[in-house]
Amino acid sequence: MSALILFGGGGDLALRMLLPSLYFLDHDGLLDPELKIIAAARSDETRDAYIERVRASVEPRAKSDDVWSDETWTRLAARLDYVALDATSADELKALKAKTGDGSVTAFMAVSPSLYGRIVPAMHAAGLAGPDTRIVLEKPVGRDLESFREIDDAVSAVFDERQVFRIDHYLGKETVQNLIALRFGNTIFEPLWNNLTIDHVQITVAETVAVGDRWPYYDEYGALRDMLQNHMLQLLCLVAMEPPSNIDADSVRNEKVKVLRSLRPITVEEAGRVTTRGQYTDYVSERGAPTDTETFVAIRADIDNWRWAGVPFFMRTGKCMAEKRTEIVIQFKPVPHSIFGRDGSSYRGAIQPNRMIIELQPDEDISLEVMNKQPGLDQRMQLQPITMSLSWGHNDRKASPPRRRIAYERLLLDAMAGDSTLFVRRDEAEEAWKWVDEVSDAWDGAAMKVEPYEGGSWGPEAADLLLSRTGRRWSSHE
Ligand code: BG6
Repeated sequence: MSALILFGGGGDLALRMLLPSLYFLDHDGLLDPELKIIAAARSDETRDAYIERVRASVEPRAKSDDVWSDETWTRLAARLDYVALDATSADELKALKAKTGDGSVTAFMAVSPSLYGRIVPAMHAAGLAGPDTRIVLEKPVGRDLESFREIDDAVSAVFDERQVFRIDHYLGKETVQNLIALRFGNTIFEPLWNNLTIDHVQITVAETVAVGDRWPYYDEYGALRDMLQNHMLQLLCLVAMEPPSNIDADSVRNEKVKVLRSLRPITVEEAGRVTTRGQYTDYVSERGAPTDTETFVAIRADIDNWRWAGVPFFMRTGKCMAEKRTEIVIQFKPVPHSIFGRDGSSYRGAIQPNRMIIELQPDEDISLEVMNKQPGLDQRMQLQPITMSLSWGHNDRKASPPRRRIAYERLLLDAMAGDSTLFVRRDEAEEAWKWVDEVSDAWDGAAMKVEPYEGGSWGPEAADLLLSRTGRRWSSHE
């Protein structure tokens, strides 16, 4: 028997993401038939009442994906147990230990990271931290390098690095893994993947949702620490890393660390030119008091190495923006000379540079924009850009798309199997925090205020300037 413990099993993350993911995995026959799922939380709830709450969350989700089945639900419910306890107490954890059996144990920390440092020693004292135990840490681990180290030290005092799985749910997204396949499963892109051919890269994670009642957490973190330190830097690493020699965890993560170490620090003098902080205008009234927390950030990052010298990576993320859009745009250089006349006599009067668009949300697709001849007998050849999809669907147009998976499905499976390729190693998290701390210090040093932006827009104007002063534009402005 193997066991999955969900600390914080009654909370939002467990109910909204983890349990629906487990349902889908069970539905697809991907869970160990012997797996037991033990939810642990403080609230004094019965197992039956808990299972009802799980069902209320899982059923509508599974129905909307058309994969609800009584059989799967009965199987999942039979695996589920609920233990009301204080997870920081070793004595109380002993009761939990008795339920886990002798097989491997994976413990998912779906609780506030401030508790990690207290739960882990209690697990140790309760005999719940054996060599076959794995521990999954949800972000944010810390608020800066120092607090990250403090929490992580408490975890590392009990668990070896190979047992620690720091989640970044973006790495569980299908298109992110597809990017790895595209870069390293083909010969045709890699020779172009450098500063000779690529002009710049844009990474956008735009959300339409407001901060809402999450503000007590969010106000302490802001967009820089909530999104950029983790999800966006991970995307940047996967675009920029050198080919690893192997897809194993250490080979991939060694390459990502090198990218993070090559990020040029942002200085006080540069901060105003290469970064923008924004805040949507309703945030203060939602929060109930003025605050300097950014709900939007845009940064130009430079990677100081041979491959990327001179290729800016523009990143932006924000709440309350015009569209939900998560994408990476690889913008190639323009043709060196147009043979089609000075104005190109083509679409919009110019030949558009090629772009590869890696779209994570709302749709999942990787596409390539290329120029092509407009059909017809015009004496002057007319060009037009066309988009070629490189994603699965175009192999077989009649096939219906595979179900869109929750990123946690992949990550839960990998953690239970002990594969940490798609998890963040300690040195990686440290390097990311180091860079983000420098950004934050530069903001303080330059006394950079947040710029207001209207909800439903693409952020403050200053974010446009960040690109336009280099002669470029955000992809959303075309
Ligand atoms: C989380 C952030 O890590 O990612 C949230 O804390 C954000 O603020 C969320 O909304 C975005 O995830 P996704 O998968 O919806 O892009």
